[in-house]
Amino acid sequence: MKNACIIGFGAIAPVHADALERCENARLYAICDTNTACLDTAGKKYNVITYTNYTEMLKNPNIDTVHICTPHYLHKEMSVNAMLAGKDVVLEKPAAMNRKELAELVSVQKATGKHVCLMMQNRTNAGIVKMKELCNNGELGKITGIFGSLTWNRTARYYQNSSWRGRYDTEGGSLLINQAVHLLDLFGYFGDGIKSVRAISAAMQLDNIIETEDTACAIINLGNGVHGCFFATNTYTADEPFRLELRFGNALLRYADARLYKITDENTEILVNDTVLRDGKKYWGAGHYSVINQFYNSLENGGSYISLDSGLNTMNALFALYESSAMTHTKTIKAVPGPTVSDIK
Ligand SMILES: NC(=O)c1ccc[n+]([C@@H]2O[C@H](COP(=O)([O-])OP(=O)(O)OC[C@H]3O[C@@H](n4cnc5c(N)ncnc54)[C@H](O)[C@@H]3O)[C@@H](O)[C@H]2O)c1
Repeated sequence: MKNACIIGFGAIAPVHADALERCENARLYAICDTNTACLDTAGKKYNVITYTNYTEMLKNPNIDTVHICTPHYLHKEMSVNAMLAGKDVVLEKPAAMNRKELAELVSVQKATGKHVCLMMQNRTNAGIVKMKELCNNGELGKITGIFGSLTWNRTARYYQNSSWRGRYDTEGGSLLINQAVHLLDLFGYFGDGIKSVRAISAAMQLDNIIETEDTACAIINLGNGVHGCFFATNTYTADEPFRLELRFGNALLRYADARLYKITDENTEILVNDTVLRDGKKYWGAGHYSVINQFYNSLENGGSYISLDSGLNTMNALFALYESSAMTHTKTIKAVPGPTVSDIK
């Protein structure tokens, strides 16, 4: 039984706390937040030790694992310090804000041999698991095309009420690194990795509010030789569950409305109705518990989990999207896409 702590008790942390309550091989032991009001409330609710200083918390020898649920600019520093203190890590996405931070994170992980689980929860949505199974068993043939879209709503107030969102130095970007990174991850997951990207991104609606992007589209060249079409925006009026389509010769698998459809000329069939997230937003996907549970089962009994390593291609593709779109901060949408960026490991 592992003793887990959570650093940062904002929007996503209750989903981790809820998952830990359901895990056989872990329990929530401590939480840390610099905001004492939310720390006190959470400390009482979960009846655990509280800290305002995470480096103090890392000195506690009873703590085995650290869940990092803080703003993006703290991910690398906190993960590195947790590993150096001998703890395994569950890291919220993104793993890091740029290539330099990612390289440091990977090098400390390799040097310490600690386990790092990366929260890419949509891989474990029941509908996505079924999609993977159908791809692997080959019954539909080869994938000939991939399309994915994410249409969410992030208002001016969402950014104005947050000290770290909407800025490169603290969020590292916005739409792509924060919301659409999960969708990007699935392109590589189903396409045998991402080889190169060509992208355009801009702040098309919130250009007076954020210095980062709210809309992006890209052509994503995949390891299986197929190219994917990717579109994402935070400017929609509502938060729709993301859509992912895999096209085969005679069928289409469509994950949309948190359902998996199999569509042929003759028939449209619902293969899976996904479960709904407890303690969180439905459109986030319901896979957090599976990711966390798999991680603790793996620490206890061996077996695989969603590791930092398995997310490196996605992270490098993410940075490539930014490099390709080479976003200007002007109000004009660039008519010509940036260069193709192919240096993706
Ligand atoms: N996987 C998902 O579905 C999902 C969903 C939402 C957010 N996230 C990710 O979770 C992370 C947190 O996002 P959020 O929306 O919960 O943010 P948030 O702003 O709501 O919460 C962050 C918390 O961290 C605390 N914090 C800041 N600095 C700290 C420090 N030095 N020590 C301790 N605590 C500190 C803040 O006080 C705040 O309570 C981000 O990486 C985000 O991308 C993931």
